[in-house]
Amino acid sequence: MTPAGSLLAGTGLRKAYGPTTALDGAEFSVHPGEIVALMGPSGSGKSTLLHCLAGIVRPDAGFVGYDGQDLTGMSDAERSALRRTDFGFVFQFGQLVPELTCVENVALPLRLSGVRRRAAEDRALEWLERLKVEDVRTRRPGEISGGQQQRVAVARALVTRPRVIFADEPTGALDSLNGELVMDLLSDAARKAHAAVVLVTHDVRVAAYSDREVVVRDGRATDMAGAI
Ligand SMILES: Nc1ncnc2c1ncn2[C@@H]1O[C@H](COP(=O)(O)OP(=O)(O)OP(=O)(O)O)[C@@H](O)[C@H]1O
Ligand SMILES: [Mg+2]
Repeated sequence: MTPAGSLLAGTGLRKAYGPTTALDGAEFSVHPGEIVALMGPSGSGKSTLLHCLAGIVRPDAGFVGYDGQDLTGMSDAERSALRRTDFGFVFQFGQLVPELTCVENVALPLRLSGVRRRAAEDRALEWLERLKVEDVRTRRPGEISGGQQQRVAVARALVTRPRVIFADEPTGALDSLNGELVMDLLSDAARKAHAAVVLVTHDVRVAAYSDREVVVRDGRATDMAGAI
């Protein structure tokens, strides 16, 4: 199902949006504890690849294997359940729930897995502190800056200690100091908790945190072994 030792892998992934080919036979795999940076020009298929691997977008052809299971063959309900328990996401565009405060947003994935409000919000607050955004905990996403929203989103992705973290330009809205903070926390998740991290970035300083770079071009993914 997945290459030896890998936790998550996509093979022969194809996806078209009408006449546009977003993925054209992409191959990808990641090991536990490994950080892989997806790079490549705008429109090359990075986000689409990430969304297929995460089971958010169903590919037209190809397979995604996760921990011995065929993600592409699962029902929507099975995939949603798996995403909730095993995956963490930082998306390229707004993903926080506008009606909830920041601490409620971060606590949400825990609440959805049955953790009680008080315990969930305590843990959420710890992550907001790690991301240095605890001061905005009672505000709503529309009342904080883009960089603060991004850090709240990172807190929400990490709070469940997921086995795979998908991050689409997680430092795009951040200054270099906060970018380093986010990358240090993603690195900790990989090194200490053995999470697999799949990261889309245009920033070579961010890519330098990765173990491996994969360049996506015209919907295909090429491993740049030892490129940095
Ligand atoms: N929902 C959609 N509907 C139609 N076309 C789409 C959709 N999502 C992506 N595409 C197209 O698929 C191709 C790949 O898009 P994708 O978002 O994967 O690129 P990307 O590499 O993430 O780009 P960027 O660096 O700008 O985020 C592009 O041509 C894009 O216009
Ligand atoms: Mg993108």
